[in-house]
Amino acid sequence: MITDNKDSRHQSGLTYHQFRAAMLLTSFHSSSSLPRHKSFYPIIVIVVLLLSSIATICHASCNQLDRDSLLSFSVGISSPSPLNWSSSVDCCTLWEGVGCDDNGRVTTLWLPSRSLFGNITPAIANLSKLSQLSLSNNRFFGPLPDGFFKSFSSLQIIDLSYNRLSGRLPLSDRLTSPIKTVNLSSNHFNGTILSSFLEPAINLESFDISNNSFSGPIPSFICSYSAAVRVLDFTSNDFRGQMPQGFGSCSSLVTLRAGFNHLSGFIPDDIYSVSTLQEISLPGNKFSGPIPESIVNLVNLRILALYGNELTGLIPQDIGRLSRLEQLLLHINNLNGTVPPSLMTCTRLTVLNLRVNFLEGELSGLDFSNLSRLGIIDLGNNFFTGSIPQSLFSCRSLTAIRLATNYLTGDILPGITSLQALSFLSVSNNSLTNFAGAIEVLKGCKNLTTLILTKNFYNETLPDNGNLIGSEDFQNLQILGLGGCNFTGQIPTWLVKLGRVEVLDLSVNQITGKIPGWLGTLQNLFYLDLSQNFLNGGFPVELTQLQRLASQEAADKVDRSALELPVFVQPNNASNQQYNLLSNLPPAIYLGNNNLDGNIPTEIGLLKYIHVLDLSKNNFTGNIPETISNLTNLEKLDLSANNLSVS
Ligand SMILES: *[C@@H]1O[C@H](CO)[C@@H](O)[C@H](O)[C@H]1NC(C)=O
Ligand SMILES: *[C@@H]1O[C@H](CO)[C@@H](O)[C@H](O)[C@H]1NC(C)=O
Ligand SMILES: *[C@@H]1O[C@H](CO)[C@@H](O)[C@H](O)[C@H]1NC(C)=O
Ligand SMILES: *[C@@H]1O[C@H](CO)[C@@H](O)[C@H](O)[C@H]1NC(C)=O
Ligand SMILES: *[C@@H]1O[C@H](CO)[C@@H](O)[C@H](O)[C@H]1NC(C)=O
Ligand SMILES: *[C@@H]1O[C@H](CO)[C@@H](O)[C@H](O)[C@H]1NC(C)=O
Ligand SMILES: *[C@@H]1O[C@H](CO)[C@@H](O)[C@H](O)[C@H]1NC(C)=O
Ligand SMILES: *[C@@H]1O[C@H](CO)[C@@H](O)[C@H](O)[C@H]1NC(C)=O
Ligand SMILES: *[C@@H]1O[C@H](CO)[C@@H](O)[C@H](O)[C@H]1NC(C)=O
Ligand SMILES: *[C@@H]1O[C@H](CO)[C@@H](O)[C@H](O)[C@H]1NC(C)=O
Ligand SMILES: *[C@@H]1O[C@H](CO)[C@@H](O)[C@H](O)[C@H]1NC(C)=O
Ligand SMILES: *[C@@H]1O[C@H](CO)[C@@H](O)[C@H](O)[C@H]1NC(C)=O
Repeated sequence: MITDNKDSRHQSGLTYHQFRAAMLLTSFHSSSSLPRHKSFYPIIVIVVLLLSSIATICHASCNQLDRDSLLSFSVGISSPSPLNWSSSVDCCTLWEGVGCDDNGRVTTLWLPSRSLFGNITPAIANLSKLSQLSLSNNRFFGPLPDGFFKSFSSLQIIDLSYNRLSGRLPLSDRLTSPIKTVNLSSNHFNGTILSSFLEPAINLESFDISNNSFSGPIPSFICSYSAAVRVLDFTSNDFRGQMPQGFGSCSSLVTLRAGFNHLSGFIPDDIYSVSTLQEISLPGNKFSGPIPESIVNLVNLRILALYGNELTGLIPQDIGRLSRLEQLLLHINNLNGTVPPSLMTCTRLTVLNLRVNFLEGELSGLDFSNLSRLGIIDLGNNFFTGSIPQSLFSCRSLTAIRLATNYLTGDILPGITSLQALSFLSVSNNSLTNFAGAIEVLKGCKNLTTLILTKNFYNETLPDNGNLIGSEDFQNLQILGLGGCNFTGQIPTWLVKLGRVEVLDLSVNQITGKIPGWLGTLQNLFYLDLSQNFLNGGFPVELTQLQRLASQEAADKVDRSALELPVFVQPNNASNQQYNLLSNLPPAIYLGNNNLDGNIPTEIGLLKYIHVLDLSKNNFTGNIPETISNLTNLEKLDLSANNLSVS
């Protein structure tokens, strides 16, 4: 069944990948990603100007020691397209990625994304005038040479991100004072960050060591050496223990990220005095305690991501003072109380996620109507009551809404059709009423791709009026979840019009009658769950015609894009699985726990791309067809509790 139940509380809902993707999205709008480029482009221009003046005026050529060091560095490196560093030409003007000052000293070594493979050898440390170094996005591996950082007395920018460098930063090593930007992200570095390493870096602006294995305490003392620090990224390492006070002295800090570590205790309150902060991202830790009211002093805050922690208490009542807030991500915590009405004045909000908390109150009492930029709202797994708030329907930018697993009542009202961009709607596990009315209304939301209505509409009858929807309706719908509603009636014929549907769940209802053969004509269907109903008759041979399960070409047509919000799937009451991509759902047919009988058709062997086939708890008879051995992608086959025999 496609559902959100209380189990979802235990789903972390967090993957570093998702986080990264979210960060990529935000960096489009983020001034915090600019510093490196800001400083880099002008310097390139200067370097180019210098180079041309060198070439035309003084003809100073490459310093011999620098050239030899570069050659020596290049000896250990291989690449599908080798560097054109020929010793017969001037290294300052004709070597790829190399730039010099007017004394012929190498100041720039800029070789990102060149598929370079090898170690970083000590020779490079002889480039004593080096000011900009990028070896980002290559395949360098192994440890850094001893004393690597301290040998560069002129270095301002170092970017070694996206390599496979490993080991600890040498104990005696230290940064030097000109350094502004350090990016060691996405390597395999480990060990602790010592204060002696950072102490000389009095001009440091940006320090990104995310996605490594650094451990020990998080270096919150970093700003006691440089007041210029703007960006700190410690995301996805093994930092643990309390986060000590210290970031409070970062008087220029714009971005603070330390998500996906093992940090615990209270978030140190001195960060709430850093008024320059635009982003605080500390998800996926074990932070506890409340979010203090003083956070509302951070009036420049655009992103507050504290999800996946153990925070308690209320959402700050004056949160509306954060008038620049764009993303409020507090999901998966233990927050209680109501949603402060002042939040509804944060008119720049684009993403609001409060899922999996203990929040309560009448949702319809909140006035969302000024949140005109709101694109994604997730209030699922809380204790909200009342009806779906009508004011939400004036948030015309909404593409995804989840209100699942609350105590909402009433009908889905026609106003929702003003959300023409709406693509994802999950209201499962509430007490909504009038299914026929809901379908009537929702067919007006032309962009719906995911519609999860599971566990509502108790005891209603599935409307079987073939004209309930027209051939123009729901033409983008890929996922339809109607499980667990205790629906009576038959599988409705209007479903045949859902030409794009890929996932159809009608499980755990009281549906009677036969499985209609026309289901086999749904060109895109690859996940069909009809289990736990009162269906009778045989296994319709037409189901073996399902294109997505039978043809390589169709099976390859998987939509690999990410869902706006994750979908939770719980086949056969097994544990709840979270899916962020539709394409990760297993191609499957679940018909278990019905009253089906007759033989399993030999044509079953045509479903070559099926991964799960569950026919258990029926009354199938006869032999298990041999062709079942043709189902070479099967991961799970359940034929138990039938009357089958083996010849
Ligand atoms: C090496 O490559 C750089 C940039 O790719 C180019 O400007 C330079 O002319 C090349 N040098 C030689 C000797 O081909
Ligand atoms: C670095 O320079 C020193 C002299 O300053 C020299 O002895 C050494 O061989 C050079 N190292 C490399 C690897 O080029
Ligand atoms: C750090 O990494 C190195 C090399 O990858 C490994 O040999 C060493 O055991 C690691 N140290 C720790 C403390 O994990
Ligand atoms: C560090 O490098 C990575 C990968 O190249 C990049 O995505 C990230 O934005 C950089 N960090 C900073 C703070 O600029
Ligand atoms: C983390 O770093 C590893 C190793 O460099 C890299 O393969 C991976 O893509 C990075 N992950 C993310 C989410 O950036
Ligand atoms: C919130 O939870 C705390 C305990 O964590 C409790 O003391 C407090 O009364 C609760 N507040 C509300 C409004 O439920
Ligand atoms: C929405 O904005 C208008 C105009 O600024 C204001 O009068 C109204 O009080 C706001 N409504 C809410 C719920 O904040
Ligand atoms: C509907 O979805 C399509 C494709 O994702 C998008 O291009 C279009 O802008 C959406 N329509 C609205 C009204 O947002
Ligand atoms: C559904 O109907 C049954 C019996 O008719 C009744 O006991 C049950 O309370 C109903 N459920 C709901 C949620 O109305
Ligand atoms: C489902 O419907 C059946 C028959 O109408 C009823 O006996 C049963 O109590 C209902 N279940 C729920 C959970 O409402
Ligand atoms: C099953 O595979 C065999 C060969 O491996 C083939 O001869 C037979 O036609 C296949 N049957 C079905 C139903 O696909
Ligand atoms: C199963 O099918 C057999 C033969 O078709 C029939 O005799 C039997 O009554 C059926 N059992 C059930 C539980 O429906």
